[in-house]
Amino acid sequence: MISLLGPVGSPLPWVRGAGKRLLLIAHQAAPTPLLFLAQRAVEVAAEVVLVLLGPASEYPFTGVPPAVEVLQSEPDGTWNDATNVLSWADQLFVVADEALWPEAFSQVYHQIQQQRSTVPVNFVFGVFDLPFPCGTGACLACMVRCKTTNRLACKEGPALDLTEVLLA
Ligand code: FES
Repeated sequence: MISLLGPVGSPLPWVRGAGKRLLLIAHQAAPTPLLFLAQRAVEVAAEVVLVLLGPASEYPFTGVPPAVEVLQSEPDGTWNDATNVLSWADQLFVVADEALWPEAFSQVYHQIQQQRSTVPVNFVFGVFDLPFPCGTGACLACMVRCKTTNRLACKEGPALDLTEVLLA
């Protein structure tokens, strides 16, 4: 008998299209889980901005598709023009260090909430980039607490709509 491991989860639910404005944020984590999406997006002439916050600023630019605009954080963790860039985006994906998920996802969500009276569905996603011990939905190790039904990141993620996730 041979055991095989295949890909788990679903593709990041990007609304594909030329001219779409895609904002990717790496919050104190390598942007690696977002780079395939960035590449796919620039291939169809979408506009892509990647924000590198904290230690993510040290990520080598050679790993980022050249057509992607990269913004880096200031030493205090803020980033220039955050308000305008958040308004510019049609869709956002945020990846964060696992220990900082509640803080990182809440921070972005509440920034958006300050700009819009409500945060639309399918607009901002947290990317739950974590180990998947089983990858099949059996062990529940990747469960993310949500407002209605809790989600398994290995099956329904890794990107989950932050309007659904229970945030701090
Ligand atoms: S990794 Fe086991 S349920 Fe998701």
